[in-house]
Amino acid sequence: MHCTRKICDDLTYIGASDRRLALFENIYPIPNGVSYNSYLLKDEKNVLLDTVDHSVCLQFMENLNYALDGRELDYLVINHMEPDHAATIGEIARRYPKTKMVVNAKTLAMIKQFFDFDIDARAVIVKEGDTLSVGRHTLTFVMAPMVHWPEVMVTYDLTDKILFSADAFGSFGALNGHLFADEVDFEHQYLDEARRYYTNIVGKYGPSVQALLKKAAGLEINLVCPLHGLIWRKDLGLFIEKYNQWSTYTPETHGVMIAYASIYGNTENAVNVLANKLSEKGVKNIAVYDVSSTHASVIVSEAFKYDKLVFASPTYNAGIFPPMEYVLNELKAHNLQNRTVALMQNGSWAPASGNLMKNLIESLKNVTLLEIMPTLKSALKDNQLDELEQLAELLK
Ligand code: FEO
Repeated sequence: MHCTRKICDDLTYIGASDRRLALFENIYPIPNGVSYNSYLLKDEKNVLLDTVDHSVCLQFMENLNYALDGRELDYLVINHMEPDHAATIGEIARRYPKTKMVVNAKTLAMIKQFFDFDIDARAVIVKEGDTLSVGRHTLTFVMAPMVHWPEVMVTYDLTDKILFSADAFGSFGALNGHLFADEVDFEHQYLDEARRYYTNIVGKYGPSVQALLKKAAGLEINLVCPLHGLIWRKDLGLFIEKYNQWSTYTPETHGVMIAYASIYGNTENAVNVLANKLSEKGVKNIAVYDVSSTHASVIVSEAFKYDKLVFASPTYNAGIFPPMEYVLNELKAHNLQNRTVALMQNGSWAPASGNLMKNLIESLKNVTLLEIMPTLKSALKDNQLDELEQLAELLK
C-alpha cells in the first residue's frame, strides 16, 4: 500500500523509513532506524526530488506511482549521488524512460560511475543559480560541495520558498508518522541522533557547511526538506544554531565527557573517582563512556557537544587499547577542534598509551592539552588522589 503525506499544496512526501538496517553506511548503528526522504512536486511538469535506498525501493515506487496518479514524471532532480538516495535512479530510468534528470557536471560524471544507462540522452545540466521553470514553480540550484560529497547541490523552490537541503539538516531516526519537526519534541527526542548524524556524516566538512549556511542565510525559507529525518516549517533557528556550533567546532555545553578503556576495571575506577570529584566541584554536565561498549559514533557526537574531554586508556601491546585508538582516530578524522583535553594512562610494567594518545590529540587543531596526566601502574593509589583532585580543579 502507498504510504505518503502531503506537505503542502503541490508537494508530497514519498520517501520511506528503514527500521531493519543495523548499520547505516555499514558502520553507524541506527537503533531508531533511518528515513530516506524523497519528494514529488506536482505542477505543469512533475518533479521528483531525489530517490531512496534500495531497501525501501518497492515502497518508494508504490508511493511515486500513487502520487503521480497517472501523470508523467517529467524531471528527477538529483541533489546527492550517495546510494542511500541515489541507488534507485537506475530503476527510475528503467520505469520512466521519458524522465529528464537534472544534474550538475560532477553528478553527471558520478552517475556514469554508478550506472550504465544513457544519462547523456536525458541529462539537464545545471550550475549555480540556474533556474528551471516547471509551471507555477521555479526551481533554482545552489552548489553545496562536500556537504557531504563533492557533487552535492541543494534545490530551492523560489515560488513556495522551500529548500531541499540534501544531507544538511538531516537526522538518524525513522519517521514514526510525524513528518514535521514541530510535531515532536525535537530537542528531547531527536536532537541527540541529529547530532550523531551530523557529526559522523558531515562533521569533517565544517567549512563547507558554513559556506552553505551563508548561502542559505540569503534565502527566505518556509520549509526545509532534508534527505533524512523531519521536515522543518517553524523554529528552524534552533537547528541552524546547532549547525552553526557543530560546523564551527564550537562546544554546545560546558561540561566534561570522559571516555575510558578498562580491561579489568582499574582504569574505570580511577575515572569514576575523577567524575565524583568533578561533581563535588559543581560540574553539572558529566558524561562517562566505556569505549569497549559504546559505539565510537556516540563518542564522536558527545565530543562535539562538550567543551572538556578526558581520555583514559590502558597500555596494550605497547600501544593504546585498540577501541580507544579507534575512537581517537575517529575524532581526528572528523576534524574535532577547539577543546580542552586531559589524558590518563595505565600500564602495569611499561605505560605507553599516554604519550601515544598525546601525539594523536596534539594533531587536532586548537586543543589545550592539560599537562597533568595521571599514570596508573595497575590501580589507583592513595598518593595519586591529589593529582586527580588537581585535574578535576582544572576541568571544572
Ligand atoms: Fe544521506 Fe550523503 O547521503
